[in-house]
Amino acid sequence: MDNIISAENVEFHYDNNFDTDEPPVKVLKGVSLDIRKGEFLAVLGHNGSGKSTIAKHFNAILLPCGGKVYAAGFDTADDDRLFDIRQHVGMVFQNPDNQIVATIVEEDVAFALENMGVDPDEMRERVDNALKSVGMYEYREHSPHQLSGGQKQRVAIAGIIAMRPDCIILDEPTAMLDPKGRREVMATVKQLNRDFGITIVIITHYMDEAAQADRIVVMDGGRIILDDVPSEVFSHVDEMKRIGLDVPQVTELMHRMGKLGFDADTHIIDEEKCAEALFELLKK
Ligand SMILES: Nc1ncnc2c1ncn2[C@@H]1O[C@H](COP(=O)(O)OP(=O)(O)O)[C@@H](O)[C@H]1O
Ligand SMILES: [Mg+2]
Repeated sequence: MDNIISAENVEFHYDNNFDTDEPPVKVLKGVSLDIRKGEFLAVLGHNGSGKSTIAKHFNAILLPCGGKVYAAGFDTADDDRLFDIRQHVGMVFQNPDNQIVATIVEEDVAFALENMGVDPDEMRERVDNALKSVGMYEYREHSPHQLSGGQKQRVAIAGIIAMRPDCIILDEPTAMLDPKGRREVMATVKQLNRDFGITIVIITHYMDEAAQADRIVVMDGGRIILDDVPSEVFSHVDEMKRIGLDVPQVTELMHRMGKLGFDADTHIIDEEKCAEALFELLKK
């Protein structure tokens, strides 16, 4: 089994209009997606396209109304496996303040482990290692409320890391952070992927963050409309704009130059390559 998550034709609607006769609105309309172990995947899509809804299916917070989701090999509809699933697949949300439960950083990181009944020595080791791996060990005795947004989000990530998951789903983890906090969280997430092989699924609306992933999935209206490496996804400039998304500035520049008749490659997503391409064009 090389997939950590596998969604098969997932359909979903929220059940909250029971007092009306209207049929439920389908929020996911047949989403199929395989996420390989060790992959770094970004999910893009306009507000309301279903990103958070599909993400919550990946660790059984939501269950499909149609189709199947397998997480770490377990069918998420299997109640008896909920605990296993949550241990293998952790989730980090947008607002760090809603995720912090304790008044001391290390207690916060230990919280889930205490509930799992991990013994004190192992707990100490796991908490210390988790805090070190997100660069927050020196803050272990601080109050979370004294920390910056980026630091709080890293503590929330440490709380998940302490569970030793195979996969972490992050739902717009940088949306409420300043640029420095965003960079800290992205660097942490990339390092966890690179050094520990933890599968990362990050939902973001920042193109520069998505460009750092191995693969991007683009959602629109409850469906996946693009699924490819970043340079391929972003080369669909017109389609991305049509669904209200941007592409990296350098890709946009190449696209516009192409429209002006220059031989410009829209698969370029980083500034250095763009500079090289412009240099070559100027030489011609
Ligand atoms: N708890 C909920 N109850 C009813 N409808 C919801 C709920 N959460 C989300 N929705 C609706 O489902 C659709 C998809 O939402 P969501 O998955 O949050 O999208 P995204 O994360 O891409 O912004 C939207 O139309 C949204 O209004
Ligand atoms: Mg969302």
